[in-house]
Order: sequence, then structure tokens, then C-alpha cells
Amino acid sequence: MGEQGAALPVDAIVAVVGAGTMGRGIAAVAARAGHDVLLSDATPGTATEALADVERRLARDVERRRLDAGEATQIARRIGVAASLEDLRDADLVIEAIVEEMPVKQDVFGRLDAIVGRETVFASNTSSLSVTEMAKATSRADRFAGLHFFNPAQRMPLVEVVRTAVTSPATVAALTATARRWGKTPVLCTDTPGFIVNRVARPFYLEALAVLEREEVDPARLDAVFRGAGFPMGPCELLDLIGLDVNLAVSESVYEALGKEPRIRPSPLQRRLVAEGRLGRKTGRGFYAYPEGRPDVKPHPPGRFTDLAVVGDPGHGAGLVARLEATQELDRALAGDGDGLMVDGRLIEPAPGSGRTAATFDVVADWSRTDTVAASGDDGAIDAFAAVCATVGIRVIRMPHTARDLVLRTVAMLTTMATEATQAGVAEPADIDTAIRLGVNHPLGPFEWRDVLGEPVLEDTLRRLADDHDTERYRPVGA
Ligand code: NAI
Repeated sequence: MGEQGAALPVDAIVAVVGAGTMGRGIAAVAARAGHDVLLSDATPGTATEALADVERRLARDVERRRLDAGEATQIARRIGVAASLEDLRDADLVIEAIVEEMPVKQDVFGRLDAIVGRETVFASNTSSLSVTEMAKATSRADRFAGLHFFNPAQRMPLVEVVRTAVTSPATVAALTATARRWGKTPVLCTDTPGFIVNRVARPFYLEALAVLEREEVDPARLDAVFRGAGFPMGPCELLDLIGLDVNLAVSESVYEALGKEPRIRPSPLQRRLVAEGRLGRKTGRGFYAYPEGRPDVKPHPPGRFTDLAVVGDPGHGAGLVARLEATQELDRALAGDGDGLMVDGRLIEPAPGSGRTAATFDVVADWSRTDTVAASGDDGAIDAFAAVCATVGIRVIRMPHTARDLVLRTVAMLTTMATEATQAGVAEPADIDTAIRLGVNHPLGPFEWRDVLGEPVLEDTLRRLADDHDTERYRPVGA
């Protein structure tokens, strides 16, 4: 983030309005950073209950020796419960985390505008509403911005600082510096549907859902492939955790707000599951049944191989080659017949392959650490590839031909959404990469994936998808 400025001084008072899941977490973050915090909630007893909850969490941190007992007491003492909005009159910064409804938020901000001082900065933790609209209820649109924390606020490092067309540079700079002083990593974006993360990350869910809808692959296998590629969770298990209904609501609102953008068309399969009450963990059933959750996936049994050589330039399979070379001598052949591995006369290439391949294997973010890779192709080639991978402790998950290049297509669409967001002036590429890595824990941000894979691979992937499926959804960037 480019903006430099002074953080809120430690003796500044922070008011947090809304003491639910997010508000109590944000209050704890501000108090830990040394501020006096006032917590306010419209439901009687909620702010007091929230403070008790913060104290319980602090006590747990003391037990686990993450925090000194004296310090925990000091932090808790800094949080006070406000009986009414009038009690917030001395606040220097107000962070709102109440119910996600525009009229209610406007009402609260409008009332606060008349209570607090002229210099007080207003910030909303909204996930999906227009910050610009909200600011209109006040006389301080220049000192009004979004400050979007992620759940749980105490642990998640990312904060999206959302500036409207009229937020002053000084306000942006102050909020950015404050978030940083609070131990967070701020990224800057404009007031746009879904901000960075909820907009750019949509294909992570939607491409997986598209594969599940049209093709013969089960959720467990799909999740195993994403974990192998370096994602902490696969799309199905993550959807079960988030709640299919919650995720669908975000998908639908961002889709509508971006003028029914075909790239992120909501999934009929997801709608059906939601209608059936299969919402995920919270209803005991989503893609998986709980408490058991995601079943283990049987990897493809390794066959045998005799000859192994590297052909041409293995591209994003270079990490696999490096891992193989650490344990065995590999012959090298010149390009001409393709780029990848030649195993007993069969060409096995990184996806999407040259079209002359016996098998292709999918994208992996960090080959030095992975224990699973997806591959699709001929029986014999997969047997041999699984045998090669087994020499370095990597399991092969076989994917049907129709679902091949699963991670690659997802990454291509994430990169497309990210590129279009930068072209629309939503955020800088570096901030988008940071937001996607820290907000949804992807192993790489979209532009980092592009650097690793190369633009031609991504373009080629989109072209193939457009030919096979849907020319609008998979159209090139800018078209
Ligand atoms: P929540 O339902 O846990 O808490 C909302 C609190 O606001 C409740 O305690 C409620 O009594 C209070 N409230 C409602 N109307 C009020 C009013 N007029 N004045 C004062 N207090 C009022 O909701 P949660 O999940 O904490 O969400 C709050 C905000 O944060 C929403 O805007 C949401 O979109 C956003 N957000 C939520 C995330 C999440 O994962 N839950 C993540 C990031 C943002």
C-alpha cells in the first residue's frame, strides 16, 4: 500500500458499535493495541456478554502462555460498555459492525454524526454494502471509509481499507497506518461490490461447482486435488464450513452488482443444495455428512516404469523435476516432442499439455512440499506416472478427462477476475495478491500464479474452456 500517514495515537478512543461476532473481535484487537475501547450494542446485555467473551479468550491466551496475565487484565480493563450512542461522544474512531442492512447502518451513522466531534473518523465493517451510500447519512463523507476485517478478527491478518470517491487521503492514510499498528496487513481498494477478496475469489468456488455439475468427479477427490496444489482446504469442504447459503448470498450479490458478469454466474447446483437445506456443517450435511466430514480419497495405485527422462522445458512441472532429480539421475532430451516427462516412451506434460500427451498433471504451488497431484490421461500413462511420483512420496489422484486441469482453470479464472479488477481501478496487483493470500489463504495470489505459470498457459486454458463450455464465461480479459 502506497499511502503513508500517522496511525491513531495510542491514547485515542475507539468506539465499536455492534458487539456480535465481528465487533467483539475488533474491540479486542484495538484494546490489545493499547486503545481505550467503548463497545455498544442495541440489544440489551450483548455488549456486556461480548466483554465477558473477550475476557474468556484472553484467559485462554494466558493459559497457553501467549499472553502475560497482567497484560490480559490491562487489555480487558481498557474495554468499557457504553449504555447508549451518547456515551460514544469522545470517540476518535468509530468502527461499525452491526447488522448488514443499509437503512439500519445509515440510521446509526446519522445519529452518531450529531453526537461525536467533527474530527472523528467513521469506518464500517460491512462486507457487501456501498460505503458511499452509508456515508451519505453523515456530514463527514471525507472522514468515512470501509474497514473490512475478516473472521475471526483477532486472528485474521487482512484488513481491506475501502475508500470512496470522497474519502480524504488523510483518512485513508490514518486508517491504513492504524490497521498496521494494530498488527494487521491493510490493503487498499475502492468501494466496489465484494471489495477485493469477495470479488476476486469467486471462481475458487464457482469453477469447482461447475466441474461438479457437469462432470463425474466427487467432492472428496476434488478437495484432495486442491489440497495437493497447496490450498489449505478444497472448495467443497470450505463451502461446508462457510455455509453454502452464506456463500451463495455473496455470489449472487456480487454477480448482480457487477451487472450479471457471466464469469461468476451463480451455480445451479449450489442453489439446489441450499434449497434442500444442505447448508454445510451447520445443518449436518452439505457436500459431506457431519461429524465425519470429508472422507479419505484412494490415490491411484502406482504401476511400474523403467525409463524416465525430462523432455524440453517442463514449465510449471519444473518443481516436480527438481524433486525427482534430488533422488535419481534423469536423462534430458531436447524439446520437439513436447515438454515434460517421458516415461517409458509416454509423454506426460504439465497441464494443459500440447495435445500429444499420454497424460497431464495439474498445477501445484509448491512442489517441494506437496504430497498429492492430480493427473488425467491414458491408463498406462497414469500407472507409470503414479510410479514415478511414488519415488518421491507424491500420491496421484486420477481425474476423469472431463475434469482435468481443475486447479489450472480455477487459477486462470482467479487471474482473470484479478486483472479485470485492476483494470477497473479497484486495487493494485500487489494488494490483490496480498488480499487473496491472507483473506482466503490461497498459496499464491492471482498475479503470483500468473508469474509462475506464464500468461500463455492461462490464455490457452481459457480458450479451451470457451471452446468446450461457454464462450461468455471464459472469454479473454477485456472482451
Ligand atoms: P452479528 O449478528 O454477530 O452481530 C451484529 C450485532 O449488531 C448484534 O449484536 C446486534 O445486536 C447488533 N445490532 C444490530 N442492529 C444494531 C443497531 N441498530 N445498533 C447497534 N447494534 C446493533 O453480525 P456479525 O457477523 O458480527 O456482522 C457484523 C457486520 O460485520 C456486518 O456488516 C457483516 O457484514 C460484517 N462482517 C461479518 C463477517 C463475518 O464473518 N461474520 C466478516 C466481515 C464482515
